[in-house]
Amino acid sequence: MAIMKRTHMCGDLRSEHIGQTVSLNGWVAKRRNLGGLIFCDVRDKTGISQVVFNDQIPQELFEKADSLRSEYVVGVRGKVAERESKNPDLPTGDIEILAEELVIYSEAETPPIYIKDDDNVDDNLRLKYRYLDLRKKKMQDNLTFRAKLTNIARNYFAENGFTEVETPMLIKSTPEGARDYLVPSRVNPGRFYALPQSPQTFKQLLMVGGTDRYFQVVKCFRDEDLRADRQPEFTQIDLEMSFVEVDDVIEIQEGFMKRVFKELKGIDLETPFPRMTWQEAMDRYGSDKPDTRFGFELQDITDMVRDCEFKVFTDAIEKGGSVRGICVDGAAQTYTRKKIDKLTEAIKSYGAKGMVWMKVTADGVSSSVNKFFTPEQLKEIADRMGAKDGDLILIVSDTNKVVWDALGFLRRHMAGELGLLDDQQFNFLWVVDFPLFEYDEKEDRWSAMHHPFTSPKAEDADLLKTDPHSCKANAYDIVLNGVELGGGSIRIHDKDMQEDMFKALNMGEEEINEKFGFLVEAFRYGTPPHGGLAYGLDRLVMLLTGEKSIREVIAFPKNQAAQCMVSEAPGLVDETQLEELGIRLREE
Ligand code: AMO
Repeated sequence: MAIMKRTHMCGDLRSEHIGQTVSLNGWVAKRRNLGGLIFCDVRDKTGISQVVFNDQIPQELFEKADSLRSEYVVGVRGKVAERESKNPDLPTGDIEILAEELVIYSEAETPPIYIKDDDNVDDNLRLKYRYLDLRKKKMQDNLTFRAKLTNIARNYFAENGFTEVETPMLIKSTPEGARDYLVPSRVNPGRFYALPQSPQTFKQLLMVGGTDRYFQVVKCFRDEDLRADRQPEFTQIDLEMSFVEVDDVIEIQEGFMKRVFKELKGIDLETPFPRMTWQEAMDRYGSDKPDTRFGFELQDITDMVRDCEFKVFTDAIEKGGSVRGICVDGAAQTYTRKKIDKLTEAIKSYGAKGMVWMKVTADGVSSSVNKFFTPEQLKEIADRMGAKDGDLILIVSDTNKVVWDALGFLRRHMAGELGLLDDQQFNFLWVVDFPLFEYDEKEDRWSAMHHPFTSPKAEDADLLKTDPHSCKANAYDIVLNGVELGGGSIRIHDKDMQEDMFKALNMGEEEINEKFGFLVEAFRYGTPPHGGLAYGLDRLVMLLTGEKSIREVIAFPKNQAAQCMVSEAPGLVDETQLEELGIRLREE
């Protein structure tokens, strides 16, 4: 069958095309037969056009048009005419096409999901029939947006002297701290590759290799629990630079963001972006990725309640914890007891055992702890929190981590409930001076907060030997509206410092050699000072398109259970394949 060559895309036609004969290719979005008149909406990735088959056309053509059903693939030729009843909601709503010719390329069964942007269909069904879901204009727009952003990244980094280099996918484990996806090796029985959690070690080897500035748009794989902004395979815009300090890396990134926002959103971003230390971010926002679009900042009231009668507070303080709260403006009325109980339940998943509330009214402060405090004491606390009539104060006492996590969650959650999150406002922030190490309670050991190649801040270099766990790192995260867009660091390039770092992590010679022997060896042969950063491309596109989940900006994402609903991966494999790999499955 000959293809009817199209002259326009379906979303292109306007009143200026009236009188022209045009050809379109696409899918039947809708067909209505009004007796002597058939209306057919034809859709492609750019939009839809209305095609009319009227009684002036040959009977055969009319009958063919009558046989059209949703999602048939067609070619139509006809003359553009002015529409009688215009549709202002549609870019092509002023015109219609009076059909003269129709080709049916393929028929379609009734689709299991509607091809409609706002269709509220079950997520797994959407993912199973992703190829149908992708026909929605919004999904195609997201893919196009993503492609444009990727192109801007390629151009920008190339212009700034970065060379795009591909790094291997079948590698040894990387040090990003999630679980690896493993791939068995047939030719090396009993041995496994890991899929890269990031190209971290290889980009550092590229610096040793003299690449100077490296860049890559690269798939990364992490076997971790999924959330709205996490996928098991995701894409990084990854880069590394030689002979740089923190400010050099940050400056390049700000230039990149400026370019992206200008070209894709028409927004002139103001640079430099604000910077905040990790400590300040935790103290003020209870989060290392604070959303600064709204207030509700944390206040520490530990000193005020140290000797109070309320044992929940004093116990937490005695155990080295703190008592902090947030003041939510004007929320005293909105938040009933029932709503507050719901919040208390929600913060339990962050380890909090409970929450104290106070409501400030013209008659004084009412609270869930009235009997432990005098009205004057409550008033003092409310004053410290900066509260005024009508405000709601929520207070949590526990270890610092639990207090930060719980209040950090409440801030964001309540801002959402109160409708304060404006997705047209873009608040960038650099979070800097992270701790070099963090204590892993579950495993009862210290681990690198970023990864073991991150350098301590120059002024803390000596501490690495004497009191390593109090070192601050030369690490930085770029945060946008409460989402960690990217992170990076200046690396250790000194062999002795790297050894001290491994020591502080309690890693023995054998473990070091097994895990990173190749990198440590490479560093013996002349290593330039270097540093870099990686963005989560999916997250960046999600924020810029105003989507709530990164699945909306990935063509074929995994579902909540890390399954590909289209191909039904992961799947079972043949016994012979397993045998070749020397793998036997345990009988359950
Ligand atoms: P990091 O682990 O911070 O750093 O990752 C960089 C960025 O990648 C994104 N990201 C993810 N996006 C979607 N799903 C996931 N599961 C996921 N995990 C991470 C985030 C994050 O900020 N090698 C270092 C970078 C460096 O030091 O240069 C690294 O990978 O947006």
